[in-house]
Amino acid sequence: MKLQEIFRNIIATDSLHARFLNTLSLMENTGARKISASEDKTKVSYIVLKHAAEEARHAFYLKKQIQKVGKIEDFPSYENAYLVAPFASYTYLHSLDIHVCRYLKQELKLSGNALKYAAYLLVTYAIEVRADELYPAYQEALDEVSSKVNMKSIIVEEEGHLAEMIVQLKEFSPEWEKHAQVACDIEKNLFEQWIVSIGTELGLS
Ligand SMILES: [Fe+2]
Ligand SMILES: [Fe+2]
Repeated sequence: MKLQEIFRNIIATDSLHARFLNTLSLMENTGARKISASEDKTKVSYIVLKHAAEEARHAFYLKKQIQKVGKIEDFPSYENAYLVAPFASYTYLHSLDIHVCRYLKQELKLSGNALKYAAYLLVTYAIEVRADELYPAYQEALDEVSSKVNMKSIIVEEEGHLAEMIVQLKEFSPEWEKHAQVACDIEKNLFEQWIVSIGTELGLS
């Protein structure tokens, strides 16, 4: 299933497009909450604080974009009825987190706060790599039909996040690329499942 084909189908129907925006909002909000949950009570850096704030802004911004294709009141929550592929969308980030934590425990024998921080680094890195592919592809499909929905401000911030994650990963381990690749491999699998679930819901597969 091609990403562009999925996006074109979604954008073609306003009600579906609104539901998709709400779904992306849920996923961004899950990311923001995960970053906040991984924070140490006192040792929170400027980068981590900025990142948590910007992911929360993305969740809000995506929710707000709904008004360009529908009514925000029609999407009062992140309950199943208001989402596209709810199960895959809910579990994507949680599953990634669980698998990465398992890898870190086994490979690096991490636990407690060290495990939380390392998981934040690897999970977020993998998501940022994906975001840097997903949002530009979505924007391209939006541009094709001159949609009012716009992802440009998110794209700029996600590019910044990826660069910031690399800075933090380099400080974390000289072998960061090896660990990051493991996280990206896990993420790829989960992302493909998400795309298949969306395609099935749209009747494309
Ligand atoms: Fe984001
Ligand atoms: Fe991000």
